[in-house]
Amino acid sequence: MTIDASNSTNAVPTKTVVLGITGCIAAYKSAEIVRGLQKAGVRVKVVMTEHATHFVDPVTFRSLTHEKVAVGLFDDPSDPIHHISLAQEADVMLLAPCTANMLAKIANGIADDLLSTTVLATTAPLVIAPAMNVHMYENPATRYNIGKLQIRGVHFVEAGTGYLACGDIGKGRLADVEDIVSATLSMLGVKRDLAGKHVMITAGPTVEPIDPVRYITNRSSGKTGYAIARAAFARGADVTLISGPVALQAPEGVSMVYVQTADEMLAAAQEAFKSADIGIFAAAVADMKPARAADHKLKKGSDDDQLSGIELVENPDILETLAANKGSRVVVGFAAETDNVIENAQKKLISKHADVIVANQVGEGMAFGTDDNEVWFIDDEDTEGLPRMSKANLADAILSKSLEFLS
Ligand code: CTP
Repeated sequence: MTIDASNSTNAVPTKTVVLGITGCIAAYKSAEIVRGLQKAGVRVKVVMTEHATHFVDPVTFRSLTHEKVAVGLFDDPSDPIHHISLAQEADVMLLAPCTANMLAKIANGIADDLLSTTVLATTAPLVIAPAMNVHMYENPATRYNIGKLQIRGVHFVEAGTGYLACGDIGKGRLADVEDIVSATLSMLGVKRDLAGKHVMITAGPTVEPIDPVRYITNRSSGKTGYAIARAAFARGADVTLISGPVALQAPEGVSMVYVQTADEMLAAAQEAFKSADIGIFAAAVADMKPARAADHKLKKGSDDDQLSGIELVENPDILETLAANKGSRVVVGFAAETDNVIENAQKKLISKHADVIVANQVGEGMAFGTDDNEVWFIDDEDTEGLPRMSKANLADAILSKSLEFLS
């Protein structure tokens, strides 16, 4: 998790998350969840089931939190009703990872160990990130238990799909740590300054087909757009993320629209922009596309003419098209430049009718695919250079900047 306490504007040191950890191989990821919450200024107290201690030693969490790690109902002689004091301390209770067994217990109000008893005793909002074998996850009993808890207002951070520790491939993997942290922060009410706002974001590259096998694209990883989507959701926004093909997991709580070409991205953005308050255009749209995509694989010999002279035509400019009629919507564009960064960005601010341009230098090893970035914010009054920061912190800074323009 990359929320940095030193830069974080989200710091709420008075909030406490009680993190329940159950017996699952993903328990080691809870250490990162603790760090992510702490970096956002949240105090974390850990409760482990006895089974969880077989996967990770409580010492790990005691060292990270500087607090006692609670396991047994009667472990703390100084606090004979430990489950009640823990339950009262929680502003949010988070279970990550949560096994099928613990889900079943909570769904049915069973309280036979410290963690399940604390869950039953707390009035704090409950966030659950399940992790288990795919068949256990898909078992009707588990689906029924999840449904029951959702009806009671429990917030789930859905399990991801992929290779599972048991060797199966499917759904059941603990969700991304970032998503669990951002869902928890969202429940804590950490800086909900985008609540009620619709934020539309374009992200990733576009892919322009030459024939069924080949295409034109670029190096965009989509990380910046995805980080903005995540941060906007954590701050309470309704988020639509229009994404070209990338190797990233969909952020929690975000409406995804997957596209391939610039034309598809334009159509999706036109639709989402109608109800948007803020449009953030982080996609690296291919400037050109083949005039015609061949319907068969172009072959050396028979298709030499077409292969050696692929005719290119310009793609629509999505940002410019939408911002031309932006009305009261805030529009943030990007400028990825190898030379004359500020000057080129200032030109784009005007030609693309943006309120702000986030400008950055690109080239060897810079910006594309990295986890941090150094940018300038350019608007019609100012050019502000920001220090190098993680893409998650940059996402927060971009959202705060956009809010300055929201009337
Ligand atoms: N953009 C867009 N549609 C395009 C091209 C760019 O929406 N067809 C948006 C990008 O998402 C970004 C901004 O315009 O927010 C600037 O993109 P950039 O690639 O830096 O500039 P270009 O307009 O492509 O100009 P050039 O390649 O000449 O620098």
